[in-house]
Amino acid sequence: MKHSSIFTLVVLASILWWSQNVGKLVEGRVHYHKKKGGSSPAYSPAPGSGDDDQPPTFSPPDPRSPAPVVQPDPYPYPSPAQGGPCIYDVTAFGAVGDGSNDDTAAFRDAWKAACTADSGGVVLVPSRGRFMITSTIFSGPCKSELVLQIDGIVMPPDGPDCWPKSDSKKQWLVFYRLDGMTLNGTGTIEGNGQKWWDLPCKPHRGPHGTTLSGPCDSPALIRFFMSNNVRVSGIRIQNSPQFHMKFDGCEGVHIEKLQINSPQYSPNTDGIHVENTKGVGIYNSMIANGDDCISIGPGSSDVDIQGVVCDHSHGISIGSLGVHNSQACVSNITVRGAMIKNSDNGVRIKTWQGGSGSVSDIFFEDIQMENTTYCIIIDQYYCLSKACRNETSAVYLSGVSYKNIKGTYNNLRSPPIHFACSDTVPCTNITMSEVELLPSQGVLVDNPFCWNAYGVQETLTIPPIDCLLDGMPQTIGEIVAGC
Ligand SMILES: *[C@@H]1O[C@H](CO)[C@@H](O)[C@H](O)[C@H]1NC(C)=O
Ligand SMILES: *[C@@H]1O[C@H](CO)[C@@H](O)[C@H](O)[C@H]1NC(C)=O
Ligand SMILES: *[C@@H]1O[C@H](CO)[C@@H](O)[C@H](O)[C@H]1NC(C)=O
Ligand SMILES: *[C@@H]1O[C@H](CO)[C@@H](O)[C@H](O)[C@H]1NC(C)=O
Ligand SMILES: *[C@@H]1O[C@H](CO)[C@@H](O)[C@H](O)[C@H]1NC(C)=O
Repeated sequence: MKHSSIFTLVVLASILWWSQNVGKLVEGRVHYHKKKGGSSPAYSPAPGSGDDDQPPTFSPPDPRSPAPVVQPDPYPYPSPAQGGPCIYDVTAFGAVGDGSNDDTAAFRDAWKAACTADSGGVVLVPSRGRFMITSTIFSGPCKSELVLQIDGIVMPPDGPDCWPKSDSKKQWLVFYRLDGMTLNGTGTIEGNGQKWWDLPCKPHRGPHGTTLSGPCDSPALIRFFMSNNVRVSGIRIQNSPQFHMKFDGCEGVHIEKLQINSPQYSPNTDGIHVENTKGVGIYNSMIANGDDCISIGPGSSDVDIQGVVCDHSHGISIGSLGVHNSQACVSNITVRGAMIKNSDNGVRIKTWQGGSGSVSDIFFEDIQMENTTYCIIIDQYYCLSKACRNETSAVYLSGVSYKNIKGTYNNLRSPPIHFACSDTVPCTNITMSEVELLPSQGVLVDNPFCWNAYGVQETLTIPPIDCLLDGMPQTIGEIVAGC
């Protein structure tokens, strides 16, 4: 089938790319670093056994390395002349990794040592261990590029009652002002989200299925803020209290082979959220969660998403944009070779009324839908309270292309194609070709819905769409694009 071969191509191409680039990586010696001054009683397996020279409990990853950790090392910082990446193992900085000890200080110390070293290095979270750390900002700038390699499990305190009062409840791990950082590894970031999802202020989690009002902050698990040239690869992130991974104010982000996993009914757990960020690639990743699989917020441009699988999510969304009459500019977004299944939305653009700015050059291509409700949707009446006023300004949508989008929809609620554009600011230049959507069971239900949507059908769609308006509108209301 065409989709799967395209998907395979994408996967192959990126594996090729990946192996070429990783192949270039230093084969030199690996140096282990210990905390300066040596004494870190917290890392002895039993408190009080107090042997500073005891080897931390992990297996040395490189047999060619002469296992320097077992030697008392009076000069723990080898001269850069020895070459190879330096390893800052968090256990050598006092992390215990027993799932309950607070290992925050060790992580901060390891980070600081790596960040201030001239030669950069790898902050390593070894595979044996469950490391509990509290909300932390890993900030730069660092002297050179850093890697945080998570091979074990890293997690926050278990729920709001254990969250330190002085810590922000809006974020857990923040990477701030870094240039050239990699987050990778074979391990897991476990969000311990359940107790946050069950807060009575979360939708229908109050008494008798109500939703209690009041502040409802829950931490985003990983946030990259004002950082450039960030790579994330290979790790698994699960059960986030809120967004799993968020990028804001960044430039140059490359994500690949990421796995995100949270239950279908975990509120507000967007997989990857991008805003005010330019130049993003998201490749060959699997995201199963309870809100948007990927969401692209205001100020995003040049985003390339390929080979992503979204399961029981709210699909891939651009938006929401223009909330509280704000300006939003989003352009040049491509989603190609995706599979979206068991989802309430497929590919969606959502804007609030009363906003300004524009969304342009959006390409949705080679997308397979399976049991998804609104496969293709533009909603310019996005509103959480169902009581939003109709306003005269709106974010202007123009140049949205849907090509080779096939598969099945569940027809429980409404037509699989739904274009609800603003009353005063129509959507323009929508193009559709090779769109074929069939009900996963039962009969072809409804005609697609269009309101104020201009565009062309390049090939006949299934279901047939005859509600797109030809040409360009005579007037385009209050466009305050200014992007
Ligand atoms: C993580 O990235 C660093 C630097 O790119 C590399 O040396 C290391 O092998 C990577 N680890 C994994 C598990 O991919
Ligand atoms: C669109 O974004 C891609 C990266 O996703 C970039 O390579 C390309 O140059 C951008 N196109 C324009 C016209 O800026
Ligand atoms: C279809 O998707 C819905 C979620 O939108 C899910 O609850 C249901 O189990 C799925 N059906 C099948 C047959 O997988
Ligand atoms: C807003 O406009 C839409 C489209 O014309 C209409 O369906 C809806 O009823 C209006 N809502 C209000 C609150 O006036
Ligand atoms: C229409 O939209 C496509 C992207 O879908 C863009 O490449 C093209 O330039 C747009 N045409 C006009 C006339 O704006």
